[in-house]
Amino acid sequence: MAAINKIGVFTSGGDAPGMNACIRAVVRSGIYLGKEVVGIRQGYQGMINKNFWDMDARSVSNIIHLGGTILKTARCMEFLTPEGREKAYKNLRSHGIDSLIAIGGDGTATGAEIFSEKYDIPVICIPGTIDNDLYGTDFTLGFDTANNTVIEAIDKIRDTAASHDRLFFIEVMGRDSGCIALRSGIAGGAEAILLPERDTAIDELIKKLETGAKNKKSSSIVIVAEGDKNGGAYDVAKRVKEKFDFYDAKVTILGHLQRGGSPSSFDRVLACRFGYAAVKALINGDTRKIVGIRGNSIALTDLHEALNLHEFKLEEDLMELSTILSI
Ligand code: F6P
Repeated sequence: MAAINKIGVFTSGGDAPGMNACIRAVVRSGIYLGKEVVGIRQGYQGMINKNFWDMDARSVSNIIHLGGTILKTARCMEFLTPEGREKAYKNLRSHGIDSLIAIGGDGTATGAEIFSEKYDIPVICIPGTIDNDLYGTDFTLGFDTANNTVIEAIDKIRDTAASHDRLFFIEVMGRDSGCIALRSGIAGGAEAILLPERDTAIDELIKKLETGAKNKKSSSIVIVAEGDKNGGAYDVAKRVKEKFDFYDAKVTILGHLQRGGSPSSFDRVLACRFGYAAVKALINGDTRKIVGIRGNSIALTDLHEALNLHEFKLEEDLMELSTILSI
């Protein structure tokens, strides 16, 4: 395999807190190890548009604490076509970029896999998404911060819910993943958690809320992942209210505020470890791998395996806890 000299780094898909800290780690690790690093703005779109930024150690000063991504992000339709990918390859080569580090979720990793199947540019992925839904890592970048954001919101809603004896349905992000709903629901002491991965019948939910009311619960909080099969929080609230009107019920949709904000200490350290590990992996001759953290150690997983061979599963013990502790 050819030596690595110039690493291209980009962020793609939904942004996540910690992406900036990770860009910083890639840039500084690369330079420390004698390589050049080029930032590619707007992800795959930036490869097609030659949106390149030759970075130095000072390019990433004062960003470790910032949410969002200084490299911007985009969802790029053109990269889905062979012509788009060829254009991207030619532009990368003409700028001297000989290796890539992709920071993003499963869409980003899928793009990297398809690209590297055809083209001779080694690529390492870093899991950056608030959804925590990638195989090969216990935690993705941004998940911890997003949970902290959600918990802060739940705590505030709990204050007003308890004061007014109300039932609140709080919708959190997770089109296909219930990770945020499950963790924030447990940490926020929710009465019920509705997840895309688990079917919850509305009648069952009503029964649970009725039992709570009989057991002297004067207010209740239900967390609904946006991808739950009953629909969003408004749909669930409407159907519950039709049959159960013991409480005055309200709905709060947290939406995109979950994607922003200063990364937590956990996410900043994770970002530093991921960035350095990705640079080291490229220099060691690895390609088509995704870095991750498993049992507090950095791990590399084959990209194809991570994307295709393993179904992501929520932790069974957390599922059980969500039932046991909400009586
Ligand atoms: O970043 C992941 C995610 O937040 C999902 O949970 C959510 O459904 C989706 O992105 C929404 O992203 P966008 O509004 O950018 O399409």
